[in-house]
Amino acid sequence: MTLSFIIPGLDEATSEKTIGILQERLSQEQEAALVLKHAHWNVAGPNFIAVHEMLDPQVDEVLAMADETAERIAALGGSPSGRPDDIVRFRTWDKFDLDGRQNTLDYLRALDKYYDAFIADDRKAVAELDELDFVSSNIIQDHVQKLEQFQWFMRSFLID
Ligand SMILES: [Fe+2]
Repeated sequence: MTLSFIIPGLDEATSEKTIGILQERLSQEQEAALVLKHAHWNVAGPNFIAVHEMLDPQVDEVLAMADETAERIAALGGSPSGRPDDIVRFRTWDKFDLDGRQNTLDYLRALDKYYDAFIADDRKAVAELDELDFVSSNIIQDHVQKLEQFQWFMRSFLID
């Protein structure tokens, strides 16, 4: 990749590795916004309105995360890839399979599983970024803190 510039105190190789990690986080954040909206439209049954209305603020938050991640890539001298095809190209996690009008609990279980991977991947990225660029690590740390709260919201519907 060709960098437009380098942040003072970082070298080219470190910047490139940091951008590579952030690009995957960007794609997952963008995909999560689509997945959450898909669930918002398709949930049905008990607690419909609670789940339907819980999901929209999460869509807004993960889109804001994607914007922050993309702009960090730009600040590092890279170019964020944000097209639909890029999301698929950078996906290393399992795609969200649940489709159609389904019970709220089925969507919540599927979203809980999706968040498992999202959070685990973000935490892995934080550990790697700590060694490369603590500013980028801080950004993803803030993101994962919110995702863990969102997963708690979902798990609160799933008590047996
Ligand atoms: Fe809506």
